[in-house]
Amino acid sequence: MPDRRLRIAVLVGSLRADSVNRQLAEVAVESIPDGVEASIIEGLGELAFYNEDVDNDESLPAGIAEFRRAAGDADAFLVVTPEYNGTMPAVLKNAVDWLSRPFGAGAVSGKPVGVVGSALGRYAGVWSREDTRRCVGIAGGRVIEDVEIGLKSGELGEEGVRSPEIVEQVTRAVRVLADSVAVAV
Ligand SMILES: Cc1cc2nc3c(=O)[nH]c(=O)nc-3n(C[C@H](O)[C@H](O)[C@H](O)COP(=O)(O)O)c2cc1C
Repeated sequence: MPDRRLRIAVLVGSLRADSVNRQLAEVAVESIPDGVEASIIEGLGELAFYNEDVDNDESLPAGIAEFRRAAGDADAFLVVTPEYNGTMPAVLKNAVDWLSRPFGAGAVSGKPVGVVGSALGRYAGVWSREDTRRCVGIAGGRVIEDVEIGLKSGELGEEGVRSPEIVEQVTRAVRVLADSVAVAV
């Protein structure tokens, strides 16, 4: 365990201003246990598309070093994402690609990663979460399968993602993720 407050970095797969997933991410940030800090890493939409030719100290595109630094400071990741065409949104895939390098030493390497989300479809975005888990696992992350929330955005009540039931689910998910930092790989 780090001898400071444990840090969870939250990645949101939707850039939409009224994104349900962003709201869910905000609930997660507000639901952290004592001794933990969490924040959404902003700006995923401004990251250049991953290109191996520029992935070096001389030609790294603007914002990438900063993004990697912010992610590198985290002890664990919570990904909150919708489903686009049966998989994870491209903006999220691109972010994970940047975090997957340098190979074997990327910012997600060996760190717990939980994946939750909301989608409109009848399966509540399950393919997106499956693909995201596979992707971050191959990128070096330690996927915490027990962190799982799949909400149907069309079936949310008046309180949206702030209903007591959902807040409870999110609180539990964040707790499981935080606890997993202490567990040896
Ligand atoms: C390009 C695109 C593709 C989509 N594909 C799917 C899909 O495959 N499955 C699904 O459940 N919803 C799909 N949706 C609907 C999203 O789940 C829905 O818009 C969701 O609310 C987006 O999340 P957000 O509110 O966080 O932006 C798609 C939406 C867009 C814009």
